[in-house]
This record gives sequence, C-alpha cells and structure tokens, in this order.
Amino acid sequence: MEDSGTSPAQILIIDDEESILDGCRQALEKTGYVVVSSSDGHEGIGLARAKKPDLAFIDLKMPGCSGMDIIEILSKEMPGVVLIVITGYASIVSAVEAMKKGAYDYLPKPFTPDQIRAVTKRGLEHRSLKIEAERLREEKERMERSFITFVSHEMRSPLVTIMQYFETLKVIADSDLSESARDIIDRCEKRLQSLHDLVDHWLDLSRIEDGSFSEARIPLVLNEIVEKSIEELSPLCQRREISIESSGRADMPKILGDQESLLRVFTNIIGNATKYTPPGGKISVSMDYDDYYVYVNISDTGSGIPSDKLPFIFEPFFRVKGKDERQKGSGLGLTFVKKIMDAHTGKIEASSKVGVGSTFSLKFPRLYEL
Ligand SMILES: Nc1ncnc2c1ncn2[C@@H]1O[C@H](COP(=O)(O)OP(=O)(O)OP(=O)(O)O)[C@@H](O)[C@H]1O
Ligand SMILES: [Mg+2]
Repeated sequence: MEDSGTSPAQILIIDDEESILDGCRQALEKTGYVVVSSSDGHEGIGLARAKKPDLAFIDLKMPGCSGMDIIEILSKEMPGVVLIVITGYASIVSAVEAMKKGAYDYLPKPFTPDQIRAVTKRGLEHRSLKIEAERLREEKERMERSFITFVSHEMRSPLVTIMQYFETLKVIADSDLSESARDIIDRCEKRLQSLHDLVDHWLDLSRIEDGSFSEARIPLVLNEIVEKSIEELSPLCQRREISIESSGRADMPKILGDQESLLRVFTNIIGNATKYTPPGGKISVSMDYDDYYVYVNISDTGSGIPSDKLPFIFEPFFRVKGKDERQKGSGLGLTFVKKIMDAHTGKIEASSKVGVGSTFSLKFPRLYEL
C-alpha cells in the first residue's frame, strides 16, 4: 500500500452526469485535492489503474456499465483505494450491497459541496489509518523475526562451546570417569545435540523468511545431491540395520536449484526415513522425469503416519505422538523442507500407511537451457 505522503490526495470520480462531475471537481479542487474524472465506467477503471488514486467516487447507475462491477473489480485489484458510491435517494439497499463488495462509504444524491468534502475527508482519514496499521503490522513482524534470529544466534555459540568442553572433558578425564559419570555426560551430550539441531533449524527457517538464505540458483543434476545425502546417512542406516538403495535414469535432466539447501532437503527426508523405520527395514530412493518435471520419490518401510496427521507434518513443531516419540526431534525438519521446495517452485507430497511405510514425492520443474 503506498503512502500519499505530503502531496495532495488524488480523487477519481466516475459518473455519467457531467453536472455532477463538474460540481464534485469544483468542490474538491477548491480544497486542494487533485481530481481526475470520467463519465464512462470502462474508461474510469482504466483511469484508476493508470493513476492509482487515493479515493474514488463511483456512481452506481450508469448506462452500459454497472457501478457495482467497478466496485468489485477495484476493491479486489486495488485494496488501497477508498471506494465511495454515489447513489440516488431510493437506493440505500444497493449502497449496502456496494459496501459488502468493498465500498467504504456512500454519498446520496443530491449533495452539497460541504457534504462531498466531509465524506472525502472521512475516507482519506480511514485510508491513512489503514496504511499506518499495515506499517505497524509489518514492523511488528520484522521485529519478531529479527528477535528470533538474534536469540538463536546468541544461543548457538555458547552451546557449541559447552559441547566442545564435554568433548575435552571426556578426553582428559577418560580413565578417571566412573561408568555412571560417563553415562551422565553422554546424556548431556545428546540433549545438547538436540538443542543445537533445534537452533540450527530455527536459524535456517528465519533465514528463509527474511530472504538471506542462500539463493544461488545454478543448473544441477539431482542424482549427485541424492547420492551425497545417502552417503552422509549410510553410517546411521548401517547402525540401525536399515538397507538403502537408489535408482534412477542415467540421463537425468537438470533443474535450477541451490545445491546446499537441496542437500539438506534430502538429508532431512532420508534422515526421517531412517529415524522412523525399525531395524531390518528398507529405504528406496527413485528418480524419474518427464517433459516437464524431475521426480524424486523416497519410500520407507517404517512406522507410517496416520492419515489424520498427514496434513500437518509440514507445520512447525508438529510431531506424531506415539511410540516413535522416543526419537528426538524438533518437528522443524519438514517445515524447512517445504519452504525450500516452495523456493524452488517445486512440490512435495507425502503418502503413508500405518505399519507399512511412507513415501515422500518431490517434483521439480525441469530446466530447458536455451
Ligand atoms: N518417514 C517417516 N515415517 C514416519 N513418520 C514420519 C516420517 N517423516 C516424518 N514423520 C513424522 O512427521 C513428524 C515431523 O517430521 P519433521 O522432520 O518435521 O520433525 P522431526 O523429525 O520430529 O524433527 P527434526 O526437526 O529433527 O527433523 C515427525 O515427528 C514424525 O512423527
Ligand atoms: Mg525430521
């Protein structure tokens, strides 16, 4: 929404009666407003689009064009413009209908110069308040975001330091530590790692939201990124006795993307598959493409997600309650994944059957290099 600043407010009048146009123009110009006008509805819409006035008076009854339609179009297209209908005495009902469609006020005919000036003043005051409220809302959002980023940043470095101290403590006091003392240190380390992951996730999310997350889009082939994330996770899979395999076509087309964030997308999804699949299970990653998209499907034979919970898994902090709850997590992994997919104009969907497994289907627009 733009601010009128100190320049005089611009008023548009659309009315088929020339005498009304002249009367309004005189009354408003005398007060210092800039007035543009049209006696034709279609031309009036064009004028509104070109001039972006602060306020518009629109006659409801015009030959060949309904004022109601103009109200509907302008209120959708230009929510910053205050719309006021000019109505005949007997048409209060249509004035009410116009206000439902987005008009702010109405001016019944006939009216005096003072009346149109009063309605204009009220409409412009309403506009300034709306602009101010919008500015405050944006400011509040910005402050909330930077606060979260600030707190996460400030937490991250002491956390890393404490983790390093524990590491050192284990090295220097190794043989002096009793079994139970070592157990407590291990527990502390696990908790610290979760907190560290949470802070990292949170920082990633706020970086995406404030637009400072890496957005270097380069042409790339997904095979390499998928293979790299499988490689990163294979020690964990081995420990959990889960097999992992990938299949694809040799001539996969390129997509436009950011290598680092896409690697995190796959490590998050495959990491989940590893976390929520019991020993002996299997993870399969398959890749394919058609003329328009490149597809990656990641399936596991894990615990599955109940169908009533499935719509929420991309929401921040959402975790399915149940036996998998013992697995540590912040519930931010998939929120991050979804945002990165959106930033790549990609799509992600999940399907799942409890006790059978889950499949995450990703699709990316295929890149055609000219
Ligand atoms: N492959 C899967 N199989 C079963 N449940 C899953 C799977 N992937 C995700 N979920 C469910 O969706 C929830 C949200 O996943 P998400 O990755 O966002 O969070 P998380 O894994 O709990 O924590 P983290 O932030 O560490 O990733 C999980 O808690 C889990 O309940
Ligand atoms: Mg996760």
